[in-house]
Amino acid sequence: MSESFSQLLRALPDFPEVLPDFDPAAAPADPAELFRLWLDEALAAGVPQPNACSLATADEHGRPSSRMLILKDIDDDGWHFATSRESRKGKELTANPHAALNFFWQQQGRQVRVAGDVVELSAEASAADWRARPGANGGNNENTDWQLYVIRPREIEFWQARHDRRHIRHRYAPR
Ligand SMILES: Cc1cc2nc3c(=O)[nH]c(=O)nc-3n(C[C@H](O)[C@H](O)[C@H](O)COP(=O)(O)O)c2cc1C
Repeated sequence: MSESFSQLLRALPDFPEVLPDFDPAAAPADPAELFRLWLDEALAAGVPQPNACSLATADEHGRPSSRMLILKDIDDDGWHFATSRESRKGKELTANPHAALNFFWQQQGRQVRVAGDVVELSAEASAADWRARPGANGGNNENTDWQLYVIRPREIEFWQARHDRRHIRHRYAPR
């Protein structure tokens, strides 16, 4: 685009002056535990919607697309999210059940990415998620397209920005 647009982009501020420290050697062995810790710290730092993340999917030809989503839970099944099976991402997940999440918490210079295979949870679990959505009245508003999914991580990477640019990356490869 124009030179002035590129100048504007380059001049934008990046991370706050004070960033949290992160010592991978002291990190918990369980990535879910570290995620909970970072989420709690993001909440304490006033990060709005730290449960929001991008979800990348790809169609049957490997053409990617991404959008924002809300993380619903993490348990032994995996990292939970929900959407309509009839949506673009729903159709892509049917054709190609692999995906990646990315969380970004600007105030702390942190991102967390998760990638793996995607599995559909039961109709009962999906209906329960639909009913539990904020603003849902819990009544007869079932949505039969609504699907709760989990990503079963093949890799999880925690990234901490540093002002000396020696950014810290801590990787888990559960499977
Ligand atoms: C912060 C944020 C959270 C969102 N959470 C969800 C969600 O949990 N589930 C969902 O289906 N769409 C959610 N959306 C909307 C999606 O980003 C997207 O626009 C929609 O699901 C259609 O995506 P698709 O056409 O790629 O399938 C959210 C959007 C934002 C900005």
